[in-house]
Amino acid sequence: MKIGIVGAGMVGSSAGYALAMMGGVSEIVLVDRNDALARAQAEDISHAVPFVSATLVRSGAYHDLAGARIVILAAGVSQKPGETRLELLERNAEVFRKVVEAVRNAAPDAILLIATNPVDIMTHVATKLSGLPPQRVIGSGTILDTARFRSLVGRHLGISPQSVHAYVLGEHGDSEVLAWSNARAGSIGLETFADQIGKRLDATVRQSIDDGVRNAAYRIISGKGATYYGIGAGLARIVNAIARDQRDVLSVSIVTDMVEGVTDVALSVPRVIGADGVLADLFPELDRDEQAALRKSAMLIKEATESLRL
Ligand code: LAC
Repeated sequence: MKIGIVGAGMVGSSAGYALAMMGGVSEIVLVDRNDALARAQAEDISHAVPFVSATLVRSGAYHDLAGARIVILAAGVSQKPGETRLELLERNAEVFRKVVEAVRNAAPDAILLIATNPVDIMTHVATKLSGLPPQRVIGSGTILDTARFRSLVGRHLGISPQSVHAYVLGEHGDSEVLAWSNARAGSIGLETFADQIGKRLDATVRQSIDDGVRNAAYRIISGKGATYYGIGAGLARIVNAIARDQRDVLSVSIVTDMVEGVTDVALSVPRVIGADGVLADLFPELDRDEQAALRKSAMLIKEATESLRL
């Protein structure tokens, strides 16, 4: 399977590297307005391939995306230290007005995978500009936040993150919702599990984990200028779920008819991902506080999206 990546900066190239390391795709084409950057990133990643896979990695122009089953859109500007994701909106919406048309012309059958922040609104922008059904325009959404949540809970409870079943919902951003009420360790609730192994899971622990998830990007950006390894692996995870028709349940963002009473809004809930993109949406049972927080997150995204007058 052929994959395109538009935007060969740190996020796009990290996604390309993660895909090459995971295997599962036959060709990766990196496109960037800076040809030299795309060429250098492709050549560098191609030197890693012989150690683990046989993926063909190359750079090209938009027409080289022809035949791609999935195209990752990672073009645009990224957060500066202290800048919120929503503050990037106008600049990146302008970038997408050119990029989406070029991609659709080159690869009309491709599923679009959106990485550019603010990813929920950029997913809405790409859906409107492309004319594709929402199920084929997928934003990385809270896939990374969910991974951070599971990782921190697993570390606290002393179990693998793969055995923690918990999701972050809503905006990939400051208003995101950690769904504690239906989180499980194995097949039992987190509180019950914590009691059984003699670990605390009180408000102090929860607040610490919440901060660890919600503010991770700000900490990393202040330390190294950008985040890219986590999101790169998250994008590769979504690509593999589509490429292998895995029917995985992943928290990703698409334009959704209604969430907590808010209509026509792109945000993350758990969704079944397969060869044709999003196959089904899942709406977890939430407690009242979580429901109110998810509605607030949806309203915030809706208001910011409407400010663009799509
Ligand atoms: C982060 C970026 C991808 O959360 O928004 O690391």
